[in-house]
Amino acid sequence: MLDTTKISEGKLQLTIESVNIDELLRERVEEIRHTTSHRFDLQLRAADPVMADGERIGQVITNLLSNAIKYSPGETTVTVASSSFADGIRVSVQDEGYGIPEGDLHKVFDRFFRVTSNNMDRFPGMGLGLYISAQIIHRHGGTIDVKSQYGQGAVFTFTLPYLFSGQN
Ligand SMILES: Nc1ncnc2c1ncn2[C@@H]1O[C@H](COP(=O)(O)OP(=O)(O)O)[C@@H](O)[C@H]1O
Ligand SMILES: [Mg+2]
Repeated sequence: MLDTTKISEGKLQLTIESVNIDELLRERVEEIRHTTSHRFDLQLRAADPVMADGERIGQVITNLLSNAIKYSPGETTVTVASSSFADGIRVSVQDEGYGIPEGDLHKVFDRFFRVTSNNMDRFPGMGLGLYISAQIIHRHGGTIDVKSQYGQGAVFTFTLPYLFSGQN
């Protein structure tokens, strides 16, 4: 079954385990690094493990990294940062790319939404990656959001609680 079908039918099963987020971020960056000329700056400081589905969170990380690469020129830098706070961890993926028009910011997590102004839809895609990513994060009891100034890159941030507080 497709992830989107599973999500809309509430059948996305999570396998909750102890996950070292910094290790997962390093793995996913190493996987994608040799597919692109982008530079990667890692600022990893999420010291404590979280209870989460490592495979699904890995999928979210890879989605954010592939968007950062797709929507920014080669040779620019993608900055991946993580940190710990009282209740959980925070991860951000920041690029130096085309950014997102202000009026579209609140729509990027919608199913099938793609920015179409200035021929931004010349890049291949289905508009599902962020929708699925948001569903996965919300199922964990976490949050995901985006900040961007059009023409000046974008930063996507998600949080995850240390203890699983979502719906399994
Ligand atoms: N890092 C980014 N910079 C600029 N625009 C982005 C970025 N990530 C996502 N977007 C915009 O949000 C839309 C939805 O993203 P996504 O769900 O991953 O779908 P897809 O990449 O398949 O188009 C994209 O089509 C693009 O317009
Ligand atoms: Mg995408």
